[in-house]
Amino acid sequence: MTARAALVTGASSGIGLAFARELAATGWTVTAVARGEDRLRALVGELGPGHRYLAADLSTPGGQELVAAELVRHPVELLVNNAGAAHHGPFTGTGPQEALAAMHLGGDAVVVLAHAFLSGARRGDALINVSSTLAHAPAPGLAVYSAGKAFVTALSEALWYEQRPLGVHVMALCPGPTSTESLSQPEADAAAGSPRHQDAPAAMVQSARAVVRTALRALDRRTGPTVVPGRANSFFVLAARLLPRRTLLAMLSR
Ligand SMILES: NC(=O)c1ccc[n+]([C@@H]2O[C@H](COP(=O)([O-])OP(=O)(O)OC[C@H]3O[C@@H](n4cnc5c(N)ncnc54)[C@H](OP(=O)(O)O)[C@@H]3O)[C@@H](O)[C@H]2O)c1
Repeated sequence: MTARAALVTGASSGIGLAFARELAATGWTVTAVARGEDRLRALVGELGPGHRYLAADLSTPGGQELVAAELVRHPVELLVNNAGAAHHGPFTGTGPQEALAAMHLGGDAVVVLAHAFLSGARRGDALINVSSTLAHAPAPGLAVYSAGKAFVTALSEALWYEQRPLGVHVMALCPGPTSTESLSQPEADAAAGSPRHQDAPAAMVQSARAVVRTALRALDRRTGPTVVPGRANSFFVLAARLLPRRTLLAMLSR
C-alpha cells in the first residue's frame, strides 16, 4: 500500500513539529513547511527517507503561492494549516503592519492553502486548520490573534459542512495553552506562534503531542467540525459561550 501524504505548515516547532512526528510515525509521508531551512532539513533528516521540506514565508503572497503550487504539483491526502503568530500587548502598541502580517499568516495563508487543497481533494482527504480556544473567547492583549482564530474556526466549520457530501473532512482544531518551544522562551513572545501561558491554570496546559494525538484520533473518527483537546479546555469553551461577554473579557484580561 502506498503511504498517504500530508503537508504540515509551521512544522519545525511546537504543534506542527508534533504533527510531523506523529504522522511520520504512523506511516504518512510528510512535507514540512516553515521559513527556517536549517530546522526543516534537520527534521526531514530525523523523519527519514521519503519526507520532504519546503521553505516558505507564509505571511507573504509569494510564500503562499509557492506552497499552493506545491499542493497542486504534489497533491496530499491531509493538509495541516498550523503556522500562526501571536503579538501580545495593546492593539495600538505596535504599528498596523505587525498586526497585518499576523493576519496574512493566520488568515490569508489558511484561505490560499485550503483553496488549493480542497480544489483537488478527493473522498477521504482531510484538512485540519489549527485555531485556538481563544477563537471562542477574545483575549484583551491578543485582540488580532483572537479575532484571527475566530475567522479560522468559522471558516473551518462552514467548510466542514460544504465538504461533507464530498467525503472530505474539515476540522477546526482549537487547542488551549500548549507547552511548545516558544513558551519556554517568553522573550520570544512577539515573534512566536503562541500566546503566553504563565498565568493559565495548569489543568489547561497540554503538551503539543497530547494536542496532536487528540486531533489525529478525532480525524480517524471524523469527529467535528471543532475539536478542543483536553477536558479543562472544553469546559473553558463551554463557559465562554455561557458567560456574559463583559465578565468573560474581564476574566481574560487578568
Ligand atoms: N502554543 C499554544 O499555546 C497554542 C494554543 C492555541 C493555538 N495555537 C496555535 O497553534 C499553531 C502552532 O503554534 P505553536 O505554539 O506550535 O508555534 P511555534 O512553536 O512558535 O511554531 C511556529 C511554527 O510556525 C513557523 N512559522 C512562523 N511564522 C511563519 C511564517 N511566516 N511562514 C511560515 N512558517 C512560519 C515556525 O517556523 P519558522 O519560524 O522557521 O518559520 C514554526 O515552525 C499556531 O497556529 C498557534 O496559533 C498555539
